[in-house]
Amino acid sequence: MEYLNRIILGDCEEILKKLPANSVDLIFTSPPYADQRQSTYGGIGPDEYVDWFLPKATQFQRVLKSAGTFILNIKERVVDGERHTYVIELILKMRQQGWLWTEEFMWHKKNSYPGKWPNRFRDNWERLIQFNKDKNFKMYQEAVMVPVGDWAKVRLASLSETDKIRDVSRVGSGFGKNVSNWIGRDMVYPTNVIHMATECSNRNHSATFPVALPSWFIKLFTQPGEVVLDPFIGSGTTALAAVGLGRYFVGIDTSREYVEEAQQRILATQVRLPNIGERRNVYSTASSHSKVRSSR
Ligand SMILES: C[S@@+](CC[C@H](N)C(=O)[O-])C[C@H]1O[C@@H](n2cnc3c(N)ncnc32)[C@H](O)[C@@H]1O
Repeated sequence: MEYLNRIILGDCEEILKKLPANSVDLIFTSPPYADQRQSTYGGIGPDEYVDWFLPKATQFQRVLKSAGTFILNIKERVVDGERHTYVIELILKMRQQGWLWTEEFMWHKKNSYPGKWPNRFRDNWERLIQFNKDKNFKMYQEAVMVPVGDWAKVRLASLSETDKIRDVSRVGSGFGKNVSNWIGRDMVYPTNVIHMATECSNRNHSATFPVALPSWFIKLFTQPGEVVLDPFIGSGTTALAAVGLGRYFVGIDTSREYVEEAQQRILATQVRLPNIGERRNVYSTASSHSKVRSSR
C-alpha cells in the first residue's frame, strides 16, 4: 500500500477515500475536541460535532479490517455549566452506522496538577472508546499484562475456604472468582483504567498524548507488521508508537506545520529504531498528496 509509513497532509475524510477497503488493523486517534483549541488548530462547535465526525467515521469503517479495532480518545467539554452530550450522541449515531460500542477505557492522567473551579474539580481523565465492526475482533491480552502487585503477598498468604473455590457474585451478575488461581503468578491482566502521565516534552503541539498511550493499544490490538492508522495525527505520536513496536503507520493531518513536526519526530526516532519495514518507505514520509517533502 503506497500510504504505508507516511504522514499525509490533508483532510482525513478525503484522503481515506483513496485507501483500500479493509486495509487497516487499528485506528487510534484523538480528534480535535469541540471548540476547545480554536486558537491552535480550529474547532468544531459542540452542536455540529456529530455531523462533522460521522462522514469521517464512515471512511474509518471502510478502511478498517473486519477483525480490527477503532479507539477514539475524546472527552465532552463543559458548555453553559454542564457537560455537552456530543460524545454520547456520537456513540449512538456510530452504532446506527453499524459500529459496535465494545468497550470504554479510562485514561487516568497521573501527573495532573490541582486546580480550582467554582462548581467542579479538575478534569483528570479521558475516555478511550472502543468501536469494532465485528464481535470477533483480534485482541492480544498477554501483551499488556502487569506485575501482580503487592496486594497479592498479603491477600494470597492467608486464603479462606471460599477463596479456594469459585465464589459466584452475590449480585447475580453470573461472574465469579477463585482467588487461589492467582497463587504463584507474577503477571496479571490489567483493568480498563490506564494510569499514565501526560506528555509535557512536546511544546509544538497543544494536545499531544504520551507515546505510551497508543503503544498500549497497539500492543493489545495488533501484531508486528500490521497497520495502525491515526487520521488526526497531530505531532505524530501514534506513528512513533507504531514504529517503536514494529508496526506500519498511516498518519493524516490538515496542518502543514504538524505534518512537518510529525515527520521530524519520526525521522529522529528512526535513527534509534530502524526496526520496521523498508527504510525507503519510512524515510519518504511525504505522499503525492502532500507538498511537504522529507529532508532525506
Ligand atoms: C487533538 S490533535 C491530535 C494530537 C495528536 N494525538 C498528538 O499526539 O500530537 C487533533 C489534530 O487533528 C488535526 N485535524 C483537524 N481536522 C482534521 C481533518 N479533517 N483531517 C485530518 N486532521 C485534522 C489537527 O490539525 C490536529 O493536529
